[in-house]
This record gives sequence, structure tokens and C-alpha cells, in this order.
Amino acid sequence: MNLKNIDSYFSVSLSGMRKIIKDFQSEMEKGLSGEKCSLKMIPTYVDRPTGEEKGSFIALDLGGTNFRILGAELKGNGKYKVSRVKKFVLGKRYITGTARQFFDFIAGCIKTFIKRRARVAQEERAVGFTFSFPVEQTGTASGTLLRWTKGFTVKGVIGHDVVRLLNEALARKGLPGVRIAALANDTVGTLVSRAYEDRHCDIGVILGTGTNACYLEELSNISKWHGYRTSSGRMIVNIEWGNFDSLPMTSYDGQVDRTSDRTGQQTLEKMVSGMYLGEITRLILKDLLKWKMPQSFKTEYMSVIESDESASLSRTGSLLKKIGIKNSTIDDRRLIKKICGMVSLRASRISAAAIAAVIRKIDPALSRNHTVAIDGTLYEKHPRFSDHIKDALKEIFGKKASRIKTVLTKDGSGKGAAIIAATATHDYHD
Ligand code: BGC
Repeated sequence: MNLKNIDSYFSVSLSGMRKIIKDFQSEMEKGLSGEKCSLKMIPTYVDRPTGEEKGSFIALDLGGTNFRILGAELKGNGKYKVSRVKKFVLGKRYITGTARQFFDFIAGCIKTFIKRRARVAQEERAVGFTFSFPVEQTGTASGTLLRWTKGFTVKGVIGHDVVRLLNEALARKGLPGVRIAALANDTVGTLVSRAYEDRHCDIGVILGTGTNACYLEELSNISKWHGYRTSSGRMIVNIEWGNFDSLPMTSYDGQVDRTSDRTGQQTLEKMVSGMYLGEITRLILKDLLKWKMPQSFKTEYMSVIESDESASLSRTGSLLKKIGIKNSTIDDRRLIKKICGMVSLRASRISAAAIAAVIRKIDPALSRNHTVAIDGTLYEKHPRFSDHIKDALKEIFGKKASRIKTVLTKDGSGKGAAIIAATATHDYHD
């Protein structure tokens, strides 16, 4: 394999994006009607917020190796204040251990968070729980884990209600007063958080360690839904797009898939998200340069390399030195920069095509404004990812692309969980 071959192997042309849009839309339709397909299209029991939700809440945000607890105060009128954030690291022994160890650890963190506050108002004990894995929701505050992703392998959770497991752990820790009022995916939290202040927001996307999206759908289009009607007649649907699989895979993607925890699953996620881009790059470099590469080439290195504009690519040189490649030439560095660019460009164009498919689904003629709320380290930290997405949307939609606003919604999932808890608490008291 030479560089020229690889370049064409990785490029996603406009017609390539159009094909993804078409296949993605057809999978969305199947998922909504309950047919077996790659997109789960999970109804979330959550409607768009009004912006008037009020009160103080605790939000748990769990979806990667960092677990965060937030205290959030919603003031209504689209205004809010995050009063306190505490980060905890979920060590490897917890993410690969047993359900009891895992949930006891989380409950312990909640106990620490609550204890440190001198006075905790009653309603602050209503908790919004963002759990960023494929969960089949069975209610506003209940849902069954379908599968683990992103390297988590905790035993005894798949097939079980994650809220029940957390409640049992909270009881073991002596915290019976803490009530999980809502369970949500991080994409849903992100959409809700932006929609609290922006009435055009109808899509939420995560581009981080993992990737996924959700959007606001008409209940009448979710033919598999037989539950209650929301007052607006709409509901947010968690697409679980990481598992979309009609994509042209390269041999490097095949290698990543074979050595991952879940072979044959999460194909789009393995071509797009931060957990895998570094590994794809490492495999190409190993193949092309015949270098003995370090065991892990982190996706964050790609951001450093791709933002290196110095003539001698000196930051790239120092980074390579740090990971054990001492005498890189300027040609080597240029090549590495090119490969990183190729891998991240492909990821951003696949993401843009998937976003375009969702927009076409809700508004085929693109006749309204849409805000796409996006969070995740890859989107936030990579120097070009967000621009590449914008450019690709322009290629797909032409001038009408100006109706689509893609906005970084930082820490949206935690805040969104508080808003969802507020809505759920409100319903609960009515
Ligand atoms: C999970 C999704 C989640 C996404 C982003 C994926 O691995 O399946 O539920 O939204 O990661 O965190």
C-alpha cells in the first residue's frame, strides 16, 4: 500500500456522502418501525424543554472514564447556573469489574458530593442521570442496558435496569432520600441543554470517545411507539448511530474491528470517534513507514500534529520523540501530518453525512432553521473537525446550508440531565 492508494481509499466524495445519507435514512425508517437493522432508534420519553423548568437538581454524567456530578440551578427563562462540578475517575477495575463494584463506586461518589454541602434542599435530591450507552428506555427513569461500548465490560449489567442497580447501591450507602428522577443518554442531555435556550435546536450530537446523535421526532412517525402522548406530540429519539454499518471499510478498519471488544458492532463509531482514530492512524503508519509504533497512538496526538504549522513541524518532532520515535525526518513528519488529516477528514465527512440524513428526515426541503448541538472532545479539541463538518454540509445542501447552525454545547449532557429531571419532577407532582 502506498500513500496515493491510501488517500483514495480514505476519501469520502460528495457522491459517497449522498450514498451514506440514503442508506442512513432507510435504516432510520426501519428502526422507527421496529424492524431489525443497524439503528436502534430508541424513544427516550423526553420532549423538548420549554425553557421554564426551574429548581435545583443534581446531575450525574457517566459515559467515559470521567464521571461527573453537578449541582445545577435552573432559573427559568432559559437561564441556569451550574453551582458545583466534581469530577471522579472511573478506574479500569471499575469499568471491567462487577455491577456491584461499579454502582457502589458511583453511589459512594454521590454520597461524597452530597455530604460536602452543608445544606441540601429537598428538591436537590432529585437526580438526572446521564448514562451514555445504548439503553432501551422503559420509562422516564428506567432503562435496560443493551450492550456496553467504549471499552466498558462491567459484568451483570447488560439486560438489567441501570436505575434499579444504582438505586440499590444508593440504599446500600444509606442514601434512600436520593431519587433518580430521569435517565438520559448524553446526546439527549446535549439537545435538551441547548434547546432550553434555543428554540431551533432539534438535533444533539456527541463526537468524543464515542459518537451518537438524537433528534426530535413526531410521535406519529415512530410507528413502534405505543406509549403515552407527549403534549407536543413529539419525542426525542436516540439514534445510536455508532452502530450504523453501511460504510466502505478499509483493511485498517477491519483490523481495528477485529482487535476491539465488540467485533462487527459499532462500525461508524470505530471510523469516527476519538477512541479509535488514533489506532487507525497508528496502523497506517506502521504499514507505510514500517516503524515500530508505540502500543497506543492517542487521538489527541492528531490534534497536536494537525495544528502544527511550523516550517520544520517541530511540535510534531517533539511529540514523536516523546513516544519513542527519535530521528524523524521532515518528510516523515509531513507524511504523518497528511495521514492524520486524511483519517480525521474521513471521520468528519461521515459525521456530516449522518447529520445531513437526520436533517433530511425531519425537514426534507430544508425549509426551517436547525441548530445541531454538538459536544465531545474530538469536536471541541480537534483543530479542523468542526470546519470540515460545516464545509461538507455546504457541499451537500448548497446555499441552504446557512439554515443549519452547528454549535459546540459544552458540558451539555450534565446540564441537560438536570433539565430532564426538572421536567420529570414537574410531571411527577402534577
Ligand atoms: C454510546 C452512545 C453514546 C455515545 C457518546 C456510544 O458508544 O453507544 O449511547 O451516546 O457513545 O458518548
